[in-house]
Amino acid sequence: MSKGLIAFYSRADENYVSGQIKTLKTGNTEIAAGIIKELTGADLFRIEQEQPYSKDYNECIEQARADQRANARPKLKAYPEKLDEYDIIYLGFPNYWNTMPMAVFAFLEQFDFTGKTIKPFCTHEGSGMGSSVRDIQKLCPSANVEKGLAVRGGNVSQSKQEIKQWI
Ligand SMILES: Cc1cc2nc3c(=O)[nH]c(=O)nc-3n(C[C@H](O)[C@H](O)[C@H](O)COP(=O)(O)O)c2cc1C
Repeated sequence: MSKGLIAFYSRADENYVSGQIKTLKTGNTEIAAGIIKELTGADLFRIEQEQPYSKDYNECIEQARADQRANARPKLKAYPEKLDEYDIIYLGFPNYWNTMPMAVFAFLEQFDFTGKTIKPFCTHEGSGMGSSVRDIQKLCPSANVEKGLAVRGGNVSQSKQEIKQWI
């Protein structure tokens, strides 16, 4: 049987959910990643920046926008040693400014995805997948990039059925 990896980026702390600033103990995308883990048994890997964005929502928004404008590649804390054993990568991220956080760009550029399937999933506050799937295809031209799953951040705890169908 093929082995899966769930590689995800997620930020807890202050966030804007359903029209209000709330402090989240666990990020929305992390919750979705946990549901995928429960349903598939795939391994989990957290994509983390060496210098995390601010816990303050408004500051984080500005930092992420500046990185996107500069087409930056934030340094990551770690990478999986290799992806050889994985045929399928569930790639999870919050929608940041209509695409992925730049740390996820940095992650994708590190590996050769030839022969691998990428299943992108994101959590968002209204923009869905945005341009993320096209961006993944550009960054990983040799991968088979499947249809994305976009879940509203505030609905993620109730999304098990939707996630199951997408899997
Ligand atoms: C820096 C930043 C930029 C965001 N940009 C968007 C956006 O363009 N469109 C959108 O629908 N949601 C946007 N959001 C909302 C997040 O995508 C949403 O809250 C997501 O569920 C957060 O996931 P997390 O808790 O796993 O980090 C943004 C949030 C942040 C912090």
